Amino acid sequence: MIGLEHYKNYFDANLKRWNELVDINAKSKFYDLEGFKAGKTSLLSIEREELTEVKGKTLLHLQCHFGMDTLSWAREGAIVTGIDFSENAITLARTLSEELEIPASFVHSNIYDLPNVLDNKFDIVFTSYGVIGWLPDLYKWAEIIDNFLKAGGIFYIIENHPFGNLIDEKHKNEFNIGYDYFNEGKPYRFDEVGSYVDTNAMIKNKTTYDWFHPIGDIINALLQVNFKLLFLHEFPFSFFQIHPDMKRKEDGYWEFQTFKHSIPMMFSLKAKKY
Ligand SMILES: C[S@@+](CC[C@H](N)C(=O)[O-])C[C@H]1O[C@@H](n2cnc3c(N)ncnc32)[C@H](O)[C@@H]1O
Repeated sequence: MIGLEHYKNYFDANLKRWNELVDINAKSKFYDLEGFKAGKTSLLSIEREELTEVKGKTLLHLQCHFGMDTLSWAREGAIVTGIDFSENAITLARTLSEELEIPASFVHSNIYDLPNVLDNKFDIVFTSYGVIGWLPDLYKWAEIIDNFLKAGGIFYIIENHPFGNLIDEKHKNEFNIGYDYFNEGKPYRFDEVGSYVDTNAMIKNKTTYDWFHPIGDIINALLQVNFKLLFLHEFPFSFFQIHPDMKRKEDGYWEFQTFKHSIPMMFSLKAKKY
């Protein structure tokens, strides 16, 4: 098995980009920080319907970005801890927690180093929307989730579907597959000045590395530790505009307009540690 030190240069590139994105995202319409400050939840309807048992529970949010979802779970009654490897994201998350007087702990750490800096056990581990692609090793990831959960605890993820990720976003007027579903653990390199919240943004740190994990690898990684799979749900719509053909529905999710076939764009998964 490849040691995590092998991925250092990839993590460094990704981290530079994520640090730069914090400010851009915090000012974006997509994240609607003003609405959040005024009391709006940043959570979407599916995770709120599928992860209801949070009140009074300790919840660890992996890859929490600048903490809007973490703090939204706190507003629902959870006792929250968010972790992210971007120091800019964690600084803003702590500022928001103080400003809005929502109690929360935020830990600055690469997810793979987390056992060195945190030793609590949690009732729930949560992670969502745009997380798995930054992780080269899902077996280590599953061990870390297992490490931080109490016996009987719940792991919940809602994420881009690995099939939907194959859509080539460069083909603006047609639906094309642009990537390999099975790419043998090799990361794709992207060089983009724009971002998912603003295609016209002029981002200096253009390069990122992204791992495309098949759905089987995600599930098998979780099953090799002490998890019982409670459900895997797939959805034919997305939480953001992956392709220009997508339009926003009244419920806030995005669906294709002219492309008429139903394909999986997101999945959610709940598992219990036994
Ligand atoms: C798309 S965001 C997370 C999603 C969250 N749903 C949101 O939009 O606020 C991805 C996050 O993963 C973090 N990240 C990427 N690689 C990481 C790693 N190896 N360890 C910890 N955090 C990481 C980034 O800093 C970023 O905040």
